[in-house]
Amino acid sequence: MDTRLMEAGDYDALAALWSGFPGNAMTAADSRAGFERFLGANGPLCFVLLDGTGVAGSVMAGHDTRRGYVYHLAVSSRLQGTGGGRLLMERVERALLDEGIEKVHLFIYRDNPAVAFYERLGWRVRQDIHVMSKVLSGDPSTGMRETPMPDARGDGAARTDPR
Ligand SMILES: CC(C)(COP(=O)(O)OP(=O)(O)OC[C@H]1O[C@@H](n2cnc3c(N)ncnc32)[C@H](O)[C@@H]1OP(=O)(O)O)[C@@H](O)C(=O)NCCC(=O)NCCS
Repeated sequence: MDTRLMEAGDYDALAALWSGFPGNAMTAADSRAGFERFLGANGPLCFVLLDGTGVAGSVMAGHDTRRGYVYHLAVSSRLQGTGGGRLLMERVERALLDEGIEKVHLFIYRDNPAVAFYERLGWRVRQDIHVMSKVLSGDPSTGMRETPMPDARGDGAARTDPR
């Protein structure tokens, strides 16, 4: 396995990867236009994982000059548990540090099994802060999940993108 910088041409493979996880709803930010906009702003911080057959994982990050933010960490189900997630996170954390970013945050549903993955990599769940959100256009309730999704082993990806 290896990683390389994400490219606009990866969109179809990534959309298939992300939408392949049961229950993972794609948001407007995941449209081709939204993807290209994010990549245009944060290209050096977005990576794909490659196996022998092509794109098998992803991570996207950005920063606001103060803090970094990680999105869309995902590894194809068939490769999970073989080090790809760690590889992607090491690569993106190094890239953020290279840009002078010393602290990074991510949003994850409390019931996502990937919480334990992140803890293994040195991340800590914050008990001292709330995340507050407001939808600025359209239906104010869009994407605000108020109740936990069913917990089922293997579909952790259903909670990839708290919105
Ligand atoms: C989270 C995810 C990216 C992890 O990728 P992965 O390639 O399976 O992880 P790795 O094989 O690199 O594992 C790295 C370490 O974390 C541990 N780990 C991985 N998943 C774990 C889990 N669910 N619970 C506890 N530990 C876990 C591994 O045992 C390994 O430990 P070690 O290196 O000390 O032996 C992958 O499970 C995934 O794509 N999940 C669905 C998408 C998702 O939920 N992403 C998070 C969005 S916020």
